[in-house]
Amino acid sequence: MSVFTKIADLFKRSDKVTRLKDAKAYEKQYAMGKLGARDRIQALLDPGSFHEYDLFVEHRCQDFNMDKKQLPGDGVVTGTGTIENHPVAIFAQDFTVAGGSLGLMHARKITKIMDHAVNLGIPLIGINDSGGARIQEGVDSLAGYGEIFYRNTRASGVIPQISVILGPCAGGAVYSPALTDFVFVVDKISKMFITGPEVIKTVLGEEISMEDLGGARVHTEISGNAHFFAKSEMECFTQIKKLTTFIPWNNRKRADSYPALLPDPAIRIDRIIPEQPTKPYDVRNVIGAVCDGSDFLEVHKLWAANIVVGFARLNGETVGIVANQPSVLAGVLDVDSSDKAARFVRFCDAFNIPLITFVDLPGYLPGIDQEHAGVIRHGAKLLYAYSEATVPKITVILRKAYGGGYIAMCSRHLGADFVFAWPTAEIAVMGPEGAANIIFKSEIAGSPDPNETRKRKVREYTEKFANPYVAAAAGHIDAVINPEDTREHLIHALRISTNKQETVMPKKHGVPPF
Ligand code: HXC
Repeated sequence: MSVFTKIADLFKRSDKVTRLKDAKAYEKQYAMGKLGARDRIQALLDPGSFHEYDLFVEHRCQDFNMDKKQLPGDGVVTGTGTIENHPVAIFAQDFTVAGGSLGLMHARKITKIMDHAVNLGIPLIGINDSGGARIQEGVDSLAGYGEIFYRNTRASGVIPQISVILGPCAGGAVYSPALTDFVFVVDKISKMFITGPEVIKTVLGEEISMEDLGGARVHTEISGNAHFFAKSEMECFTQIKKLTTFIPWNNRKRADSYPALLPDPAIRIDRIIPEQPTKPYDVRNVIGAVCDGSDFLEVHKLWAANIVVGFARLNGETVGIVANQPSVLAGVLDVDSSDKAARFVRFCDAFNIPLITFVDLPGYLPGIDQEHAGVIRHGAKLLYAYSEATVPKITVILRKAYGGGYIAMCSRHLGADFVFAWPTAEIAVMGPEGAANIIFKSEIAGSPDPNETRKRKVREYTEKFANPYVAAAAGHIDAVINPEDTREHLIHALRISTNKQETVMPKKHGVPPF
């Protein structure tokens, strides 16, 4: 065979695989508002950058008439490319091929591209659109899932892993995305659940739609399994592109630097905190007032909104921001917000992203529900994550920092490198009302005018503790700063922390309160 014939043969074979499309399955896919696997890769990656591998891989199943079925690419497209010039490894399950079901060779293609991603030190993106384990292949497909989960876990903290749910992701298949760093979902398209509506009907006798069970809104607002919500696939791809600009390729690198931008001058940082100390405000205005271009990529925006986490840049460098949100539940810490912040802190620490924490909270949410849901165990995750983190940690106390909340929100005592406080900061064991009621209880009760005495005692306590100066006198905070100077203080602190190195005690690994 001449070289020309061989090349012509390659074209013919590749063309045959890619054209072996099931027209009806494609029609159904598009009718659901979904793109095909290759369309998705093209839309997400930089134009012309995708290089596909393992196009000719075929399944080896002989049972249930499978020997007569041709499944192009075995239902998954794998390869490498770039997003905004950042290299990535990617796989996209193809629902038009046997429902994107995962058989042995399908799994092998995925694990091969995962191994590439780890060996090359580049992020992995997985687009999930699948009916789950390929039923005809039995235990081989279960083995395939196990091998994926194993790699997801081993790669955790080494390369960023991004999961995109663009169709069904059912049964044990959900555990691969759950093991990755960021999960993206799209309204009406994404469906994630362990047991589907049929099983629920059989076992529990309850009728529920797939959407209500595990649709995009459920996972972004209720379960917290997904980090980003989009209205369309294209919007989802725009979000992923933006995320890749904030994170490094792997744990040995830093995120790319960008030209510094000034924040939007229309946001007046000195006007954000209301006069009345109990009045709420949106902490995202503080973030917008300090970060480059007032540009903030919020993670887990719709879940546990009493804490805000996400990425921004300061002087061109990526930072991870954690901030109590006074406009939701007064910014308290509870089960979900502790989980949300702890996980984000661990991602930033694993990938060399400095942490900036803005504090304004009255403490932990009281109540039987929280206690029984394990607020002790979940709250401990945040203490653990901050204490364990060795990246530069800079904290700004904006207003309230009471009790356990003060400690948990990256206080000096958990290893913060710099702690700044605005003049409006109140650092105390608890709020003045509660404190006065306890420590002056008998004095108030025994006085001729208990109401008046209570007010006086609250005033006395406020003057003594509801300010940053007692903590400053003890050296627990480094400086009381003007709100207008916050950005400059943060940039300086980051600049001098560039070469921070912390030695941790030798151990195999810690045992965090998972
Ligand atoms: C083999 C499958 C399949 C599967 C779908 N197909 N799921 N083939 N194994 N798991 C095939 C269908 O037979 C059909 O083939 C084509 O894909 C499209 O499927 P439809 O049912 O026509 O599509 P739709 O109506 O959109 O329904 C999609 C669906 C449904 C909701 C995902 O297919 C479904 O319920 N599938 C089974 C889901 C499931 O229970 N999977 C196993 C989970 S257990 P034809 O040839 O007709 O076009 C699991 C264990 C993992 O995954 C454990 C890991 C630890």
